[in-house]
Amino acid sequence: MIIKNISCLVTCGGNCPKTKENLKDAGIVNNGYIIVDNNRIAEVGSGDGYKKYLGSGRIVIDGGGKTVTPGLVDSHTHVVYAGSREKELSLKLRNVKYIDILKAGGGILSTVNSVRKTPIERIENETKSRLDTMLLHGTTTVESKSGYGLDFENEIKLLQVNKNLNGKHPVDIVSTYLGAHAVPEEFKDNRGAYIDLMINSVIPYVKEHELAEFIDCFCEKGVYTTGEAKRILEAGKKAGLKAKIHADEVESVSAAELAGEIKAVSAEHLVSASDNGIKSLAENGVVAVLLPTTSFYLMLNKFARARKMIKDGVIVALATDCNPGTSPTESLQATMTFACFGLKMLPEEIINAMTINGAAAISRENEIGSIEVGKKADITVFDAKNLDYLIYHFGVNAVDTVIKNGKIAVEKGKLMY
Ligand code: NIG
Ligand code: FE
Repeated sequence: MIIKNISCLVTCGGNCPKTKENLKDAGIVNNGYIIVDNNRIAEVGSGDGYKKYLGSGRIVIDGGGKTVTPGLVDSHTHVVYAGSREKELSLKLRNVKYIDILKAGGGILSTVNSVRKTPIERIENETKSRLDTMLLHGTTTVESKSGYGLDFENEIKLLQVNKNLNGKHPVDIVSTYLGAHAVPEEFKDNRGAYIDLMINSVIPYVKEHELAEFIDCFCEKGVYTTGEAKRILEAGKKAGLKAKIHADEVESVSAAELAGEIKAVSAEHLVSASDNGIKSLAENGVVAVLLPTTSFYLMLNKFARARKMIKDGVIVALATDCNPGTSPTESLQATMTFACFGLKMLPEEIINAMTINGAAAISRENEIGSIEVGKKADITVFDAKNLDYLIYHFGVNAVDTVIKNGKIAVEKGKLMY
């Protein structure tokens, strides 16, 4: 494949992961080209250098008037679920708090009820259609958490959906076990027993059957305490899973500090992370995955302190948090908008944060996340004359073409796989 005459080729190459001033460097090449051999990037350049490859039977794509980026990496999602929760919108408009909806058996627990009632085939179908939407919006790799089963059978069911779809769908899925997403109703008065169940039964099974690569915990006031999170995540690490943590999403409970202490790969949300927490992330190379659509959707009137994190040297990534409660969207282009207007991030910072730094959040930075020789040919072509234009023109799907693993998966905005 040859992609030629690219008006704005955003490679996101060079130093990796990107921090501080470096985050502003998206490796932009004007009038660029990309040569793909099989499923790998074979050459990247500018001008006429592609011409020597013409006539060799390659597919030629014209990048005139287009912005081309690495395939987008959505490094934090809860995309496997059943049902929907539009009823919570009017509760929120009447000022009912997210944590209070959860305490009353709604929120996450209502999706848990839907998941437990729904057969695996149906959950797989519903998830597949969300993955299609992600692909149509330019995403080529997605992290996917369990967490709406909250018992042995149903958590395994959700992780099995990750595994099944990873084998069938063009989008690559990186699986995370999030049994500690809420305390299940049946263990409300005996939460220690649920933690024991996760540690003694689910984690060993997940590891043995290769159902997840990461373990996560929702560490938040009213959900899991910092002490509980530490116990769960260390047990996961001991079993060979890598740690992620939902940290300080609504209130600060020093979960960002814990992320540094246990050397988590990433800490996520971080809307209320303390100064010390931010320092701990920077010092320990923990990737901060920021989810600005969630701040917006929770009506928090508060966004994570992205500018401080960037200034202090934290590796910042951006993701959708796609889930039925706090961020019902599959589109990283929606995340772009809120990263710009809520987090005050620059276009170059935004694209690095959802490509190469997103790849770092899921330990894939050597394989994907930039357009560089040897990397997997995951490429998104946007109908935008430059990167600034892509962020500026909001609320529409700007994707024209998506190349996944060297093959055209989306063409003229339609699925082709
Ligand atoms: O990332 N914070 C916890 N989990 C999700 C919300 C899940 C839900 O409300 O269903 C989140 O915001
Ligand atoms: Fe989340």
